[in-house]
Amino acid sequence: MATAVLTGGTDGIGRALAETYLGRGHDVLVIGTSQDKGEAFLAAAERAGAGGRARFLRADLSLVAENRRVVDLVTRTCPAVDVLVLGARFHRSTRVKTADGFESNFALYYLSRYLLGHGLAGHLGRAQSPTVLNFGGCGLMGPVRWNDLQLRRGYPGTGALAHGAALCDLLAVQFTRTYPGISYVLNLPGVVATSFAGEYDPATAAHVARLRTSGKPVSAAVAEILPHLDAPAAPLTAVVEGRRVATDTAAFDPADAARLHQLTERLLAQAPAQPPAAQW
Ligand SMILES: NC(=O)c1ccc[n+]([C@@H]2O[C@H](COP(=O)([O-])OP(=O)(O)OC[C@H]3O[C@@H](n4cnc5c(N)ncnc54)[C@H](OP(=O)(O)O)[C@@H]3O)[C@@H](O)[C@H]2O)c1
Repeated sequence: MATAVLTGGTDGIGRALAETYLGRGHDVLVIGTSQDKGEAFLAAAERAGAGGRARFLRADLSLVAENRRVVDLVTRTCPAVDVLVLGARFHRSTRVKTADGFESNFALYYLSRYLLGHGLAGHLGRAQSPTVLNFGGCGLMGPVRWNDLQLRRGYPGTGALAHGAALCDLLAVQFTRTYPGISYVLNLPGVVATSFAGEYDPATAAHVARLRTSGKPVSAAVAEILPHLDAPAAPLTAVVEGRRVATDTAAFDPADAARLHQLTERLLAQAPAQPPAAQW
């Protein structure tokens, strides 16, 4: 039986994808911080007659050790991973550091996706046609702040997510060079009416409230990306609102990808090995 693992799978686009894979008969593991959202997902799966194939894991993926815990659980309990969706995000209007000392968007939008992708590559490699979906920048979100990866100077508000997305483009390049048998799909879905989980200042909150109602439905976002997940046209595919875009532009420079990989390994070497506080 195929397995799908989804961060952000308790809400928004991730949840809609989780339900899609449940409907196809996959075993589905969703990860999030909210017990309520996790239980709501499990209850819906039960009602759909798929309760036995649905699992929820509560984890704060902005913490390095929590990502390692997820990798450990998945590798112990799943024979293989066919689909890995990297969709967790939490916007903050003001800069916040995680207990590991990383800027929170850098930690959740980039480091978590780095840790889970590389950590689960072995299990992805066991699947017949493994695919990773990451909501990256598709070459449209740079430039990378090489001298300020954690946005210490002039924190850009919503731009912090865009910066994380640009880092994810480079992550995808290095990943596909390292694991050529695993398809990697980057997706920029356009504005989608989701919860836009985050902590917003009043001006951003007003803007986000409009996005929550004006965005396209999650079903449309899923319909646009699913064909690319089911039959990726290349080892690395970038898809903007359903259309493939080039991945041979400066935003996907292999030298930059290798540089970011090295910088990330150095940062991770300094991260605490254990969760900094008691977890759930
Ligand atoms: N919606 C859009 O218009 C849009 C536009 C461009 C790109 N995207 C990208 O598409 C992806 C999905 O976005 P969305 O709008 O569907 O998301 P969303 O509805 O805002 O949901 C965010 C998800 O992330 C999880 N999450 C937040 N903080 C977490 C943490 N510390 N640890 C673990 N999980 C955490 C949330 O679960 P809990 O609440 O349980 O923690 C939730 O499942 C994201 O990468 C986003 O950047 C979306």
